Amino acid sequence: MAIQKINSLEEYHEQYAKSVQDPESFWAEKAESFKWKQKWDNVLEWDFEGPNIGWFLNGKLNITENCLDRHLETQGDKTAIIWEPNDPNEKEKRITYKELHEEVCRFSNVLKNNGAKKGDRICIYMPMVPELAYAVLACARIGAIHSVVFAGFSATSLADRIIDCTCNILLTADGVFRGSKQVPLKAIADEALEKCPTIEKNIVLKRTGFEVTMKEGRDVWWHDEVAKADLSFDAETMDAEDMLFILYTSGSTGKPKGVVHSCGGYMVYAEYSFRNVFQYKDDDIYWCTADIGWITGHSYIIYGPLLAGATTLMFEGIPTYPDAGRFWDVCDKYKVTLFYTAPTAIRALQSFGDEHVAPYSLDSLRVLGSVGEPINEEAWHWYNDKIGKGNCPIVDTWWQTETGGILISPLAGITKLKPSFATLPLPGVQPLLVDNEGNPIEGNGVEGNLCMKFPWPSMLRTTYGDHERCKQTYFSTYKGLYFTGDGCKRDEDGYYRITGRVDDVINVSGHRLGTAEIESAINEHENVVESAVVGYPHDIKGTGIYAYVISYNKTEDEEAERKQILDTVTKIIGPIAKPDQIQFVSGLPKTRSGKIMRRILRKVAEGEADKLGDTSTLLDPSVVDEIKNGALVNA
Ligand code: WTA
Repeated sequence: MAIQKINSLEEYHEQYAKSVQDPESFWAEKAESFKWKQKWDNVLEWDFEGPNIGWFLNGKLNITENCLDRHLETQGDKTAIIWEPNDPNEKEKRITYKELHEEVCRFSNVLKNNGAKKGDRICIYMPMVPELAYAVLACARIGAIHSVVFAGFSATSLADRIIDCTCNILLTADGVFRGSKQVPLKAIADEALEKCPTIEKNIVLKRTGFEVTMKEGRDVWWHDEVAKADLSFDAETMDAEDMLFILYTSGSTGKPKGVVHSCGGYMVYAEYSFRNVFQYKDDDIYWCTADIGWITGHSYIIYGPLLAGATTLMFEGIPTYPDAGRFWDVCDKYKVTLFYTAPTAIRALQSFGDEHVAPYSLDSLRVLGSVGEPINEEAWHWYNDKIGKGNCPIVDTWWQTETGGILISPLAGITKLKPSFATLPLPGVQPLLVDNEGNPIEGNGVEGNLCMKFPWPSMLRTTYGDHERCKQTYFSTYKGLYFTGDGCKRDEDGYYRITGRVDDVINVSGHRLGTAEIESAINEHENVVESAVVGYPHDIKGTGIYAYVISYNKTEDEEAERKQILDTVTKIIGPIAKPDQIQFVSGLPKTRSGKIMRRILRKVAEGEADKLGDTSTLLDPSVVDEIKNGALVNA
């Protein structure tokens, strides 16, 4: 029996009340629907001080038996994955549950044959092709911990991530097709691997046909290995609290951290949230446009939909190739019913004009979703009117890499919507708003910092190799609470509206970046003394990146230096972190204790240089005039 779906607003309120009164029996009931090799002893043990969080303790399972084996008898011939290639002229693929099971078993054997063991960390750096899904699931099947790195990240970023969790195997491809461009992935991986002695095997998929150099003893071809591998593989027995995967994400300080998710709780929450938020039905065709390199792809392209036995669409390309009608073309081609994308994509497509939507019927669509950043009202209405034709509820889903699954969101067709509101917490989720001192803010019509006061099954367990950092980042700002880093309003109806990050994290086109991380990349440029990065409102990206840079020698050719800085950032992090604006300055506004006053830099970047407020505490107030005069945006 599958997880029971909430069917009405009344049921939502009932379930919500139950989840608060008796969380253990609430979650035990959800977990009963899965295939466990051994049932758990306790549903939950937790404290947010440690933090120590355990769900379904001593339960044994393998998540892939729940994604695959469990569906074979009833729907082995149903399509599990539809794959739409980058080039619309290339043939699509449809992979049934039976075939997917076979491919995953086969690749599990490939991994074993190449020395992989339970508990190993395996890095996956691949294009959006079906083999990526096979690889992720095969890791889970053999009990290895996958760490997927988005294929747009640079060699340095890839190496940092491999080193941090000491991976012994890398899975990659010769190249990636992205719109009209091609990226030589293997060459980037080779550069990274020069710094990664722990990698013993690199299994390389042929995708673009690029010429690559294969290092004897280390590099092997995917197709050669697959040809040698057996077709059956018994899933490894995992403890509910064993690590399932690591996913690196940016924070306000230092290098990205490896967020760790565990097998049992993540599994239960992924299916539970998928079914309820989208109000999934068996004949749905579901498409999430994210990349599997991000948490959205993990939870809502692979695990959630496959656990539910759904048909999930995987798209290799980009929204604007060959033209800005591609998403809608794909929706019509496969009669997509549930469509889940990011506000930045919606705004970008809207900006190309409605003529790119007009040729498509879009009448298969039933539910639309949004994720990754606040959706502004204008984009919400366009999405609602032009794509949903006023007939499709929009689920504005708020969540994070750390939360593993959607925590605050409408349930499609059940929750009354309000544009730009994530609305209400799912049953089992207990948000709390606090002021800057950590005092709870009760009642409605209020605003504060968004925390969670009770655990949910798919929450992060630690940050890999550094539990103290997990504690400091999420559990120390407000005692006894998980702090999200987001600001949030609760309106008169008790509806939640996320207002954006309150820390030094910015959300650029739905991608999370730390300002400190971008600064340290800029500072790698040989002529840069110091830099400060802030976000500013950007029509398409949501938040743009504005960098203030102090150079050693004042350059004659600012444009050339800007370009070099962009290249440096691309090399260190990847193109997603390139600043939109670079302003050269001779000093930064600092307090007497040397702290940069980012408030001032933000105001200037936002074009509100006339609203700087008190600058008297600055060490040298004159730098402010120079910064104002050189501002790259006008008020
Ligand atoms: C932001 C993405 C407003 C938020 C799943 C959060 C959102 C960060 C929404 C996490 C939303 C995500 N409305 N803001 N519906 N969804 N965010 O880890 O600031 O890449 O903290 O996870 O994105 O980004 P992450």
